[in-house]
Amino acid sequence: MRGDGIGPEIIDQTLSVLESACRRFRIHLSYDEVPAGDSALREYGDALPIKSVEAFANSDACLKGPVGETVMVINTKLRFGFDLYANVRPAVSYPGICPPALSPDIDITVIRENSEGFYRALENEVIPGVWTTTGVFTEWAAKRIAEFSFRYAESERRHRHKIPKLALATKANIFRKSQGMYVRIFEEVAKSHPGVKFEHYYADALCARLVREPEEFHVIVSENLLADLLSDLAGQVAGGLGMTPGTNINYERKLAYFEPTHGSAPDIVGRGIANPIGQIRSAALMLRYLSLIHKDQRLSEAADSIEASIGILLSSSDRAILPREIGGTSNTNQVGDMIASLVEGGS
Ligand code: IPM
Ligand code: MG
Repeated sequence: MRGDGIGPEIIDQTLSVLESACRRFRIHLSYDEVPAGDSALREYGDALPIKSVEAFANSDACLKGPVGETVMVINTKLRFGFDLYANVRPAVSYPGICPPALSPDIDITVIRENSEGFYRALENEVIPGVWTTTGVFTEWAAKRIAEFSFRYAESERRHRHKIPKLALATKANIFRKSQGMYVRIFEEVAKSHPGVKFEHYYADALCARLVREPEEFHVIVSENLLADLLSDLAGQVAGGLGMTPGTNINYERKLAYFEPTHGSAPDIVGRGIANPIGQIRSAALMLRYLSLIHKDQRLSEAADSIEASIGILLSSSDRAILPREIGGTSNTNQVGDMIASLVEGGS
């Protein structure tokens, strides 16, 4: 799904990086392109036509570009419709991009509970001019995302941090019952994961600490609305939203789509200056996931190679080769070409 705005431009670069990785690691990926977003609404009268929904349901994985005004429709049909309950957004910095990154050693993953919370947006005008919004918080979904997050912290982090840290962010001081329940469930689940250091923060305090000491965080988890904010914040703290990938996933159902954290950036469409790195990293996450479900090592080697190539680019002392978003002079296709040739050259 190429999506709207800068979506088609950054997906082009992503496909060429994927082609390089597939050539080098002798992988055969077959894919279909299906419409999604404002352009699909214009052409088919539906932002996510049934053929796109079916293609998603039948796929091993879906690579998706950002979409424009119709994003809510797509989010609802995919995230809620297929119960893609975990939204996982890594934010990683490198020496060459500091600043704008606040530190060269940031390696944070924000996990967003993607199926409930205030995003259920049950809004009601109780009397004219007075609106209420109901959030939904269930013990069941809290337990599910807690277990997912602890497992993620253990597996993804074991090789990088001796003691991985998992920080839960809530406003349980205000929403004492609903978000208080999240705290209680996480504390219970923490007992069966002694290898992970669990901490609870009030979300506002966590924001301040994230800016002050971003290297101190490993995995941050929160409900839908708070984690929406926190994932943008973490992405920017690590250098910029244009570089932040993500996935929306239901492991049990083996359904996932991979998209950057940022939007469709209509202000820079067609100028060739969009940063494709968030989209390319999303493709690397996709390969890593496919490697898990197909038990094929080559796919994770390809993911490693894409990530390593991006690391080389972002650690360069020559700031001119960086994407424009972070102060360099490289255009969308130059960034894509550099990553593709690093991948093919053996990184
Ligand atoms: C995201 C986006 C969307 C969301 C918006 C565009 C509706 O910000 O994926 O984080 O909040 O879910
Ligand atoms: Mg968001």
